[in-house]
Amino acid sequence: MKQKFLTTLLFACALTAASAQTPVYMDDAQPLEARVKDALSRMTLEEKVALCHAQSKFSSAGVPRLGIPELWMSDGPHGVRAEINWNDWGYANWTNDSITAFPALTCLAATWNPEMSAKYGKAIGEEARYREKDVLLGPGVNIYRTPMNGRNFEYMGEDPYLAGVMCVPYIRELQKNGVAACVKHYALNNQELWRGHIDVYLSDRALHEIYLPAFKAAVVEGGAWSIMGAYNQIRGQHACHNDFALNQILKGDWKFDGCVVTDWGGAHDTYEAAVNGLDIEMGSYTNGLTSESAFGYNDYYLADPYLKMLKEGKVPMSTIDDKASRILRLIFRTAMNTRKPFGSVATEAHYAAAREIGNEGIVLLKNAPAEKKGAPLLPVAADKYRNILVVGDNAVRLLNQGGGSSELKVKDMISPLEGLRAVYGNKVTYARGYVAGRPMYGRADEIPQHITDSLRAEAVEMAKKADLVIMVGGLNKNHYQDCEGGDRLDYGLPFGQNELIQELAGVNPNLVLVLLSGNAVEMPWVAQVPAIVQGWYLGSMGGKSLADVLSGEVNPSGKLPFSFPVRLTDCGAHAFGELSYPGDSIRQEYKEDILVGYRWHDTKKIPALFPFGHGLSYTTFTYGKPTASAKNIAADGTLTVTVAVKNAGRVAGKEVVQLYVGDDRCSVLRPMKELKHFAKIALEPGEEKSVTFTLTPDDLKFYDEASSGWKYEPGKFKAYIGASSTDIRGAVSFELK
Ligand code: BGC
Repeated sequence: MKQKFLTTLLFACALTAASAQTPVYMDDAQPLEARVKDALSRMTLEEKVALCHAQSKFSSAGVPRLGIPELWMSDGPHGVRAEINWNDWGYANWTNDSITAFPALTCLAATWNPEMSAKYGKAIGEEARYREKDVLLGPGVNIYRTPMNGRNFEYMGEDPYLAGVMCVPYIRELQKNGVAACVKHYALNNQELWRGHIDVYLSDRALHEIYLPAFKAAVVEGGAWSIMGAYNQIRGQHACHNDFALNQILKGDWKFDGCVVTDWGGAHDTYEAAVNGLDIEMGSYTNGLTSESAFGYNDYYLADPYLKMLKEGKVPMSTIDDKASRILRLIFRTAMNTRKPFGSVATEAHYAAAREIGNEGIVLLKNAPAEKKGAPLLPVAADKYRNILVVGDNAVRLLNQGGGSSELKVKDMISPLEGLRAVYGNKVTYARGYVAGRPMYGRADEIPQHITDSLRAEAVEMAKKADLVIMVGGLNKNHYQDCEGGDRLDYGLPFGQNELIQELAGVNPNLVLVLLSGNAVEMPWVAQVPAIVQGWYLGSMGGKSLADVLSGEVNPSGKLPFSFPVRLTDCGAHAFGELSYPGDSIRQEYKEDILVGYRWHDTKKIPALFPFGHGLSYTTFTYGKPTASAKNIAADGTLTVTVAVKNAGRVAGKEVVQLYVGDDRCSVLRPMKELKHFAKIALEPGEEKSVTFTLTPDDLKFYDEASSGWKYEPGKFKAYIGASSTDIRGAVSFELK
């Protein structure tokens, strides 16, 4: 008995000693901040500095002595990128890193459905987790300012509210996997030309009303754990160590408690990086894309040079404690998070999510009868035609390749041609029609004219004999197309597609044109083509999604997240000469100010070819008269606007009901109207639903430069209810007292 008592006592003492030995920072039952404080108190200055910079192309160090793990990062944002070599940009050629490619973020934005965004974040988060990544470099929320930006396909369009609403569920669901979002590129990286140094100047109003709200939503509502600084400069200082953007706005006003990570090679100065809010420096001394050097990681701005400055007292110790605390917080939330799930890759559920997002994001731009009478050309039922000709390089091209850092190594990829063959079977023949060359950096393949001519002639000959022609064209991920590191050189379609489309339309009126791109293009042939579909980049299940929509299996419900100007000069960014776009190579001024996208088209009365918010359906939605709950809204009150929407057609469909607010009179210039709310609803044939939006005085405010804050002015406002930014179905007036 005595023996047993002694054994129990000894055992209990051993247990107490063991738990006393578990340091607070290791114990994830402890509050996060207590763990951060504890870890920090155990670290040497050298260990703290070692956290602040890369140790390889995509990782940064932990604290090996304390068992604190490294951080592993990966691009982003449309899937988890293949493994890259330790010290150069080559692919590591692993055989276990193939994944699901999800539709590009432009497509996600075009769903106007936050549920799709949540599905996206969950699925990509599971893949990132399975691939043992701690930080996923995405999503991107830079505003679509000009269709020339080579990187628009990675962003969520021209409207700050839409981009903000759509990025939040992605971030939240992703982070539930213990994988941090790294929201990019903060801020004002709105073009790729001269992205490494162009110095952007704009008004405080444009900054706060247009370019910052989506980042703010990502941080404040999404709770993003990291953010990537942009390559460009903002008002004379690089964005990656910019006092105004990082210290004052991000960490000050928005109370961001996560890490600022540079874009790869985005740091330029040790002192500024130390004091202006940068936390982790990545990719220095390469151009961020193609060239390498043997530059040691200890020579990074935030490595030995920073340590030296700290030791010499040239920068305060508080800077390193703040950075190390933020990085520890990030590590505890991700790499050292013992409660995170295990993840999974290329599962049926992920393919299903990719397909569903694609199905909801595809936009039916135009759908007229082929010969000016009869039924619209789309959808095309499987048994309708005997001979269907598919034309176009993009029908067979691997669009996961190229584009820059968002390039993906897919496990499976269904091309448009394969998707269409699965529905229409052996009725389908194929002609390439044009060819676009390989995805390369720094130059484009030159295609000899005789090849372009003969491919076109062959397709046109075959089109004469076809019952229906489906051309799949657009841009691609080659440099100077939809690709980072360069802007487009031309607003028109490349590779001789304009001639091809015109000739196809000339010989066969039954022409469906599918454009795959992340950008608007000029459409000189628009009147001659009865059916036009915007198909974005749709990822692994792209062919399935396109076939679903063209065949009518799925009723399209995507709406444009940006305007398609008729010509480039109709876009606000291009209306003020070179200094406004692309800048003089050193400096740039956003002269269109707050009038970006539809705000410009509307206010200046320059109609767009296809406006923001536009997208057709195979059914028709009728709108009732909108009503407001009151005539006035009080400064601390709310007002609801209700509208009934009915599916008046014969097939089920989804409609995005949009609410825009316009200020009748104001002491400052305001856009004619601005998107403030939207709702996507599903309606069976004949079904009617009523949609109610709640307006608050915040929806009526503008950014007041004099007081550096948001302000409203009493007076009359209108709430417009529309099926697009120009297809306004009703309006209600009210007054702010
Ligand atoms: C891109 C980033 C990307 C990083 C790492 C940079 O060139 O601008 O968006 O995350 O490379 O690949």
